[in-house]
Amino acid sequence: MNDQFKKDVELGLSQVPKSIPSKYFYDKTGDALFVEIMNMPEYYPTRAEFEIFQKQHRAIIQAMEVNTNTMFDLIELGAGDGTKTKELLRALLYGSYDFNYVPIDISQSALDSLGADLKNEFPSLKVRKQQGDYFGVLKTLKENNHPKVILFLGSNIGNLSDEQSASFIYQIGAHLKTGDKLILGVDLIKSEALVKPAYNDPHGITKAFNLNLLSRINNELGGDFDLSTFHHAPEYTIEEGIAKSYLVSLIDQEIPINEIGKTFSFEKGEKLQTEISRKYNDEILDKILDKTDFEIRAKLTDSQNYFADYILHRF
Ligand code: AVI
Repeated sequence: MNDQFKKDVELGLSQVPKSIPSKYFYDKTGDALFVEIMNMPEYYPTRAEFEIFQKQHRAIIQAMEVNTNTMFDLIELGAGDGTKTKELLRALLYGSYDFNYVPIDISQSALDSLGADLKNEFPSLKVRKQQGDYFGVLKTLKENNHPKVILFLGSNIGNLSDEQSASFIYQIGAHLKTGDKLILGVDLIKSEALVKPAYNDPHGITKAFNLNLLSRINNELGGDFDLSTFHHAPEYTIEEGIAKSYLVSLIDQEIPINEIGKTFSFEKGEKLQTEISRKYNDEILDKILDKTDFEIRAKLTDSQNYFADYILHRF
């Protein structure tokens, strides 16, 4: 991980414009800041998707096309704290469906706390925690013949470019069989007045989340970033439909990074892109799905039409 981080930082700071993949936000501090983000009133996606799972779990189960006679695997990519998923789990248990819940996460400690929590709340639920990268685990799960429903929620797909998303979804499909399902949670395109505060909150939490990337470079790669010389500057237009996060240098400066053995120059006003967060509509998703083996079976949105969970069918 450290080696790949080093390579990606060197490459990202050498190119014009500068950019570093947003997956590097998530160390221990970044994980904790992201939990704070999800709890902020401005960050609407969490509540909007929760509402879908809370109020429309029957429609979700119907579109999953599962029945009580056939055991299936419900597999979640990136388990999180399970708040939304619990709504679905409760309804499935109540309906006497026979299934394994398989949360996959890179973090064993996240899986352990989710596992303990679920055991407490749903003693009869069959939880099969899987630590590892998504495709490594999906490959092993392919060996059993259970029908599969994959959950990829929270608009995590939006942190990938459309090209990367198509390839990611295609790869999920390559680990599934005809008739299996993918439930994909995506944030919908909406006005700047709604999206921008979610990425530029008045509490400074998203700013701290963004700047934490520089702290990580300082701590793990011997970087010499002075965080006070960078400004958190998100951008979003409804026409483009992509929230973009930047750190902008407030001064001309040279930043040595020991582990890389190089110094990187920033001009005053120069931007380092740290994240894209794509928002969707049917047309954008259709274009992505064209390059995969999935088609849309159902689309469920919250009452404000902020967020959608698409139930995709692997053909
Ligand atoms: C994890 N991901 C879907 C979040 C998003 O909205 O793109 C990450 C995030 N970045 C800033 N705020 C939240």
